[in-house]
Formats: sequence, structure tokens, C-alpha cells
Amino acid sequence: MAKVTVVGAGKYGSMTALKIAEYDLADQVVMTDIVEGLPQGLALDINQSRYVEGFSTKLFGTNNYEDTADSDIVVITAGLPRKPGMSRMDLLEVNAGIVTDVTENILKHSKNPIIVVVTNPLDQMTTLTAKVSKLSKNRVIGQAGVLDSSRFAYFISEKLDVNISKVEALTLGSHGETMVPVPSLCKVDGKPLVDLLSSEEINDLVQRTSDGGAEIVSLLKTGSAYFAPASSAATMVKAMLSDSDEIFPVCAWVDGEYGINDVYLGVPAKLGADGVSEIVQYNLTDVEKDALLDASKAVKQKVAELDSI
Ligand code: APR
Repeated sequence: MAKVTVVGAGKYGSMTALKIAEYDLADQVVMTDIVEGLPQGLALDINQSRYVEGFSTKLFGTNNYEDTADSDIVVITAGLPRKPGMSRMDLLEVNAGIVTDVTENILKHSKNPIIVVVTNPLDQMTTLTAKVSKLSKNRVIGQAGVLDSSRFAYFISEKLDVNISKVEALTLGSHGETMVPVPSLCKVDGKPLVDLLSSEEINDLVQRTSDGGAEIVSLLKTGSAYFAPASSAATMVKAMLSDSDEIFPVCAWVDGEYGINDVYLGVPAKLGADGVSEIVQYNLTDVEKDALLDASKAVKQKVAELDSI
């Protein structure tokens, strides 16, 4: 059975660890954090829910990377969350330091893990993790599109007053300003979204999706969203633990697909036991293809900023 490590036992990390444990696909979920007692206390609390929930996966809390040894999958959530008025870019410098430190420590004890990155700013942190870890690119994946698509699906279901199970929604591109919605592939009860809502109405939903994290940050005042983000990261881990090859929009290394090269970008990808097994090329409209290309250029520019810090 597999071992999963979640680095960062804050809101996002602990909720992700709980969800992964409840899937009952791993032998052990290790939570680690720099705060003494925090991962240990949370692990104890979650372990005490096992009897009620009926799952066997054991939680282990630690401040020591030796306990993460031989992890199959590592989820990096360590970092500062956004504060009201703060952009993801403001987080770049501080979180780059944290993610570099975490990645180096993980690789000392696990030779060939799959790493899922959720720390913001997402595209840069995923690129940085791949660079620092030197793992093969299919084993380093960022979480963004699963969350953005889920937010988009929720807003569509509310707007049309339909059960969310009837909605298919997809966003690609970068997390944040250059998110690329794909209305041509969004459906409600099998009907194209573009036949159900005007382009103005779709644009409003897209805007709310793109601002989805910020809207929650401004309501919470301290901390950022973590329920839907944790569901998204845990779902990716579940697909890899069960080698499902299911398709998710994730931040993956793009090397020629969609006419785009050498960049971590939100694209549809199959997730299996080795991470990304294939980047799936959907038929996008010309507008959507151009938006994806623009997003790739924006991400490349942001990644270049990493070299200056
Ligand atoms: N090593 C391990 N853990 C660390 C480190 C480090 N070097 N630096 C910080 N942490 C831990 C903190 O101690 C804290 O417990 O990361 C945790 C972050 O938790 P929260 O502050 O609750 O933040 P959270 O909401 O979980 O968000 C984490 O996900 O969505 C992104 O933008 C968000 O980058 C942020 C990350």
C-alpha cells in the first residue's frame, strides 16, 4: 500500500490529508509542518475519526523529514496563504523560499516521488519544484484547473438552477488572471453551455470563477479557501493512487501539445501511477487556442521573475 506525505499542516494541508485518508487507498498519510505539535495533534484527531468513519489509512504527524521517507506521492501545501488585497504574485518571494526548502528535504528521503504542488503562485511554484527536484516532468504536477473547473461548475449550476451533477465545466491555462475558460466544452445536461447562456452571462461566470479565490479571501479576512482546494488536490492523489488514468485539468509540463512548448500550464491530462501519463489534446475553438497560447506566454514571463529572486 502507498505512502502519501502532505507538507504543511495548515488549513489546506490538513483537509487534504483527511480527504486522502478517507479514500482509504493509502497505508499511511504523513503530515509535516515546521510548527511543533501541529501535525501531531491534527494526526491524532483524524486518527480518532477512523473508527466512526471506518477507514484504515493511518495519519502520522511529524516535524521531521526522516518520517516522510519513501513517499509515493507528496503534496506541498506549505507556504503563506494570501491576505486580503494581496495578489498571488506578492507571495512569490516568500513561498519560493519555502517550496525550495521543502523540495530539497523531501528528495533527501524519497528518491522518486510524485509531487503535487498547490502553494501559490501556482505556476511558478510548480516550475520551481520541478527545477529543484530534477524529477522527470510527468512526476511534478500543479493543482489549479480541477479547482477552477469546480468553481465554474458551481456558478453554472447556480445560474441555471440545475443539479451540479448535470454540469460539465472546464478551465485551462494559468491559475488566476490568465485562466482560460473553455465554454465550447462546457455542457449542462448534455447541452452546450453556449446555447443556454448569452456570452455576457458566461463572461460574468468566468470572471467570478477567475476571482473565486479572492472573493473567499475577502470574506474570510484571514486565510484563504481550503475546502474546494483540498477536494481538488485529494482527487488528483486518488486518481494516481488508483492508477485511474482519468482526465483532469492540471498544471502539467507542456512540450509541443496545443502548439506550446517548455512551460508548466493548465491542460487536460491523464493521471495515473506515474503522474501525468498523457496530455490530452481537445478540439478547442480558435479563440480558446489563442487564449491558451497567451496564458503560456504570461506564465513564461512570470517564471522568468523567479530568476530575479
Ligand atoms: N515547511 C513546512 N511547513 C511550512 C513551512 C515549511 N518551510 N513554512 C510554512 N509552513 C506551514 C505553516 O506552518 C502552516 O501550518 O504551512 C502551513 C500553511 O497553512 P495555512 O497558513 O493554514 O495556509 P493554507 O490555507 O493551508 O494555504 C497553504 O496553499 O492555497 C495555497 O495560497 C495558499 O500558498 C498557500 C498554501
